[in-house]
Amino acid sequence: MKKLLFIILLVFVTQVYAEDGSRLWLRFSGNGNAQVTTKAKGATANIAVRELREQWKGAKITLNIARTKETNLLGDEGYLIKGNRETGVSISSSSEKGLLYGAYQLLRWQETGLGDEINISESPRYELRILNHWDNLDRTIERGYAGQSLWEWEKLPSVISPRYEAYARANASININGTVLNNVNASPQILSAEYIEKVKALADIFRPYGIKTYLAINFSSPAELGGLPTSDPLNKEVKLWWKNKVKEIYKLIPDFGGFLVKANSEGLPGPQDFGRTHADGANMLADALKPYKGIVMWRAFVYNPTNEDRAKQAYQEFTPLDGQFRDNVIIQVKNGPVDFQPREPFSPLFGAMKKTAVMPELQITQEYLGFSTHAAYLATLWKECLDSDTYQQGKGSTVARVTDGSIYPQKHSAMAGITNIGTDVNWCGHQLAQANWYAFGRLAWNHELTPEDIVNEWITLTFGEPDNQGNSQNLNPKLSKLMLESREAVVTYMMPLGLHHIFALDHHYGPEPWCDVPGARPDWMPKYYHRADAGGLGFDRSSKGSNAVSQYHSPLKEELDKPETCPENIILWFHHLPWDYTMKSGRTLWDELCYTYDRGVQQARTLQKSWDELEPYVDAERFREVQSKFKIQTRDAVWWKDGCLLYFQEFSKRPIPYGIERPVHELDKLKSFRMKISNTEKADINQLYNK
Ligand code: GCU
Repeated sequence: MKKLLFIILLVFVTQVYAEDGSRLWLRFSGNGNAQVTTKAKGATANIAVRELREQWKGAKITLNIARTKETNLLGDEGYLIKGNRETGVSISSSSEKGLLYGAYQLLRWQETGLGDEINISESPRYELRILNHWDNLDRTIERGYAGQSLWEWEKLPSVISPRYEAYARANASININGTVLNNVNASPQILSAEYIEKVKALADIFRPYGIKTYLAINFSSPAELGGLPTSDPLNKEVKLWWKNKVKEIYKLIPDFGGFLVKANSEGLPGPQDFGRTHADGANMLADALKPYKGIVMWRAFVYNPTNEDRAKQAYQEFTPLDGQFRDNVIIQVKNGPVDFQPREPFSPLFGAMKKTAVMPELQITQEYLGFSTHAAYLATLWKECLDSDTYQQGKGSTVARVTDGSIYPQKHSAMAGITNIGTDVNWCGHQLAQANWYAFGRLAWNHELTPEDIVNEWITLTFGEPDNQGNSQNLNPKLSKLMLESREAVVTYMMPLGLHHIFALDHHYGPEPWCDVPGARPDWMPKYYHRADAGGLGFDRSSKGSNAVSQYHSPLKEELDKPETCPENIILWFHHLPWDYTMKSGRTLWDELCYTYDRGVQQARTLQKSWDELEPYVDAERFREVQSKFKIQTRDAVWWKDGCLLYFQEFSKRPIPYGIERPVHELDKLKSFRMKISNTEKADINQLYNK
């Protein structure tokens, strides 16, 4: 009997304290009986009440739907929180959604220990804060590294996984208000009646959490799904087909958000197949959605295998169309002009389209930053882009300000993030990658928050123990430092000084600057990007080369044009420099490259060491999981350094300076190794080291 009691107790204790990451940043529980009063009766207000009742530890709270001058100014999603923890707090908003956001803000405030007096008024910088799932209907995820797609299409709409609601709650807690359920490489099937029923089931769960549902569509759907002879956007039948399809969707999902479209990109169909423009295609869909207040997010990720520099093509295709798009179209632009590299300059399209709404697209999933195996806190990358000055309307025209509606009048403003979420217990594959999901939501709400503010909040919520002072003194500053340095470490051991896209073909995990596939598209080969030769290294995008610099506004274009004024952390993006070019450090380019890669390896070691030092402050389960990943990350950093330096040395013909770590790999072996992972499978990086 005693033994049985002991086992029951053990099971109970392990369940209570299991820290597997499944609770994300929502780990705290209060006494479950806080006093919350409100007259609001809707489903969204009920969630706010429930969250506060369970988790608030202070005096009574009142939730008011108020249409005062103050709340009106804050818009539909804004809120006012006033009061004192000891005597009572009120949250006011003009909508239930604002009350819900206010509730989550109050709980964040409670957990991060900001004092007793509270007086916060907030409203979002971007109206639409949207996750993009690159999830296929067979539940594989393009560039997904955290298991399968959450959406159990085969069981929907009859079986509803409890994870759908947990997903909605996590998003609402960080103010994400939209989700595109399926891959931009979209199957026409998603628009079939059968799938719309399934989508409706998900939309019904997300709605009370203030989340709208969107779909990525295939431009050929009228032909492929509807059986029409064409999908020409100016064809009457085609227009009618879309109108009817939209009607069918809104009948089931009255608050449906709209469509995301990848067209005439990487082999996908689009209006250009019929001699029409992107504006013709986007506007036709926008017209169908307009009566229901739906929007079109039309992607500008376009490039063709021509002689033109890939980095220039989106700007060339889209700027002539400025002013031709309907006001419910937003052009969705990746942060950089090529493709989510560890470091890129910002896309010159930001600020250049003055009469069209443009939204940044960020990649939360780490396609190019070590999957869910390497730790890379991405808020630093995103802030670098958002804070970049485009100069398009004078000094201070940052990417954030030219897209959030504060500089250009635009009906809608938005930010999209390609998720890193899957069926893994910890949602994101890597415990520390949860910070990127969190940071995306927080930044889209307020792009003025610093990566440091955000990560400190996240650490307290995710790893903090409410009554353990040791944690906030020891864990928080150390983990915060680790996180803030992590992305720069990845850039430094993978692609420093502006190098880019020298990844292994297809899967984009390890280094393959040597990759050459006879007959392959040149712009899918690393050599296209690094341009190493006996004369030097880097892509000449200056006015003497492809002249991509001309797409930036003065004085930036002049600054980027000259190697002396171009920032060194991006210099090989814009310049092909001789191996003996003198860098700011006084070293030759070759030596600088060697020292920089070496520094990257040292940085990876420091991350690993810093994590180990946190052992006393992190629960054993999450500690070990992350520790094992840092081992791989550090080994990979050496792989990157050796692979890139030994390969580039074949061109520079210079010795590796004695001051840095010696290579431990043979170039031939590295060249003959191919990691067997497909785009869609979860990568098992360990196979690399079991060879
Ligand atoms: C990258 C990525 C693809 C993706 C594409 C896109 O090229 O590797 O998997 O489909 O971006 O953004 O559409």
